[in-house]
Amino acid sequence: MQMTMNAKIIPGFALALGLGMANILAQPAPPYIGVSYYPEVAGGQITNDIAKMRNIGVNLVRFGEFAWSRMETNDGQYNFAWLHAAVKQFSDAGIAVELSTPTAGPPIWLSAAHPDILRVSAAGQTIGHGGRRQGCPISPTFQRYAVRIADKMAEEFDGEPNLIAWQVDNEFWGDCYCTNCEKAFHIWLKKHFGTIENLNASWLTVLWSQEYQSFDQVPLPNPQRLTETPHPSLVAAYRHFLSDSYVVLCDAEAQALRRHSKKPVTTNGHNPAYQQIDYADLFRGLDLVGTDSYAGPNDLLRYAFEADWMRPLGKPFWLAETAVTHSAGTVVDGGNEWANFPGALRAKMWLTYALGGEAISFWLWRAHWAGQELEHGSLIYPWGDECANTPEIRQVATELKTHADWLRRTKPSLAKVALTYGLPSQWQFNATPIASGFNYDSAITAFHRLLAGGGRSCDVLMPGAAVAGYETIFSPYFPALDDATLTKMKIFVEHGGTWVLGPLSACRTTEATAHRDACYGAEFETWLRIHVRHRSPPGGVTKLAAGDETYGCHWLCDAYEPLANQTVLAKYSGGPLDGFAAVMECPIGKGRVILLGTQPDDVWLKKLIARVSPASGGEADDGVVIAQRVDAKGQPAGTIVINTRPTAMQFRQTGATWQQLAGYAVRIEPAKN
Ligand code: GAL
Repeated sequence: MQMTMNAKIIPGFALALGLGMANILAQPAPPYIGVSYYPEVAGGQITNDIAKMRNIGVNLVRFGEFAWSRMETNDGQYNFAWLHAAVKQFSDAGIAVELSTPTAGPPIWLSAAHPDILRVSAAGQTIGHGGRRQGCPISPTFQRYAVRIADKMAEEFDGEPNLIAWQVDNEFWGDCYCTNCEKAFHIWLKKHFGTIENLNASWLTVLWSQEYQSFDQVPLPNPQRLTETPHPSLVAAYRHFLSDSYVVLCDAEAQALRRHSKKPVTTNGHNPAYQQIDYADLFRGLDLVGTDSYAGPNDLLRYAFEADWMRPLGKPFWLAETAVTHSAGTVVDGGNEWANFPGALRAKMWLTYALGGEAISFWLWRAHWAGQELEHGSLIYPWGDECANTPEIRQVATELKTHADWLRRTKPSLAKVALTYGLPSQWQFNATPIASGFNYDSAITAFHRLLAGGGRSCDVLMPGAAVAGYETIFSPYFPALDDATLTKMKIFVEHGGTWVLGPLSACRTTEATAHRDACYGAEFETWLRIHVRHRSPPGGVTKLAAGDETYGCHWLCDAYEPLANQTVLAKYSGGPLDGFAAVMECPIGKGRVILLGTQPDDVWLKKLIARVSPASGGEADDGVVIAQRVDAKGQPAGTIVINTRPTAMQFRQTGATWQQLAGYAVRIEPAKN
């Protein structure tokens, strides 16, 4: 296939691009340096852009995700000629192509003819044309058109030799309060509860006279139509329903693509704080995992977090979008921090490869000259010059020439430590604020920073993941332990594992209600052989006391009464909980559960982490990632060490002496044969 394609290349074109024939013949393969590209707005620039991409080292482009109006110019009238031409141009230059279904940008002829495809905002307004993501995932009309365009694209493009993957849509998200969603929510609730009596009983709707007589009466928890705090179980159920709805749409498009194509199918996730879709569900039916992250250079460990949750899903994964520099007002850090510090971009790129990612892809290649997101960082300015960061991308491209083969032959070694993370937990915390200022995503990533940023490898596990093989699993902020999780974790502990549970775990049912027989449920407390006696905010007076020292604690404090011979690792000091156990070690079978009754400050938490979680191959200052690689037989095959911080840090590998690592330094050290 590749040879056929290349046979069609006009040598003059190749020379104009500055390519030798050897380059043209190269089959694109991971590791990839990718960019988002928009051939529909590129005008006559594609040839020129390809030459620049080749020069920088870009070997993957993604396009199509917003180009529906050009692919289907009117209902059933397709024009793929321009897209074929673009795919061919990139393919001929040896650049891999990922095509996206365009359903994130529905065309105006569709909404004009079928307004029922449009989402409805909480204020009751139909979300109109002029932005993007206006499609309602539940609308049968939208689903029909989305599946049809996906089907058509796959039929058209599957034969393209350098097409290496499909992306479904772009960052699924968006609440909808339309009548279709309301009806579908009723069906979802009926499937979940069977009878309205069950729903009423599970949610205690008699409170505030909220009882329903039929599913049809259950409202969508529209914040603008419900006074005071909406019922938390209703809010969490709506989140679950909406997540399921986007997953159904994604799977339907994926199936349409697969009718004609065997190429891997993915979609791009994004910050769960607003996407609110269960990644475990979203990627279950896909072949490739992808997410977008726009964290700034002050927070490079956020990229490690993204890799650490994608890797355990057991499929190839990509950092599907990130920015080279400032990002159109959507950044986490904001301000000047996002002007990349020298070395930060290279560190971010190597972090992705070191932690197992096949690709890092930049949004976007050339900043738009009109329309939305004008001031977004890009590799090429709208006027054609390269931005200030491209030398680092070029440097990584050169380094990949040396190390690509090693990366392909090896993979990250298995982590011994894991952290639990799940969207259902986020839905529960969002539905019932537990303490002012608490944010699930920030709380979990703060834990991850301590676990993964000190040279330890840490997997981030969705609740359904297998746990065999880990030595220690941290499950903070995991409010509802469903039956499957409980069974799995009991086996894990009884066979010798360490489970660090809490803070704010085990204290809710899967319906976002409290247990009535004991704070963590009577059966579970019996298994732990403890009793949660009090729960109270620290209120500025309660501290954590361990040995002669006291430490800070946050959010809420669960105070334990041991019911067996267990070790109290820390107590509360001061305030109403003075003297009660705050952190307990409960031996069970061959293992133990460590109960964290509160969020300790970082100083004490680091001590706990050092005590219970095995270091994997080295020690390091905070912010240093030591990624060890193993070969196909699981034998050590080298290391990549990355300082994610701007200032110098220290690290040492097991048995070696401490070494200094300059700010954002990357050390790539394949094992010597
Ligand atoms: C992403 C989105 C892109 C672009 C980018 C800007 O979330 O997928 O299309 O808008 O943000 O940072």
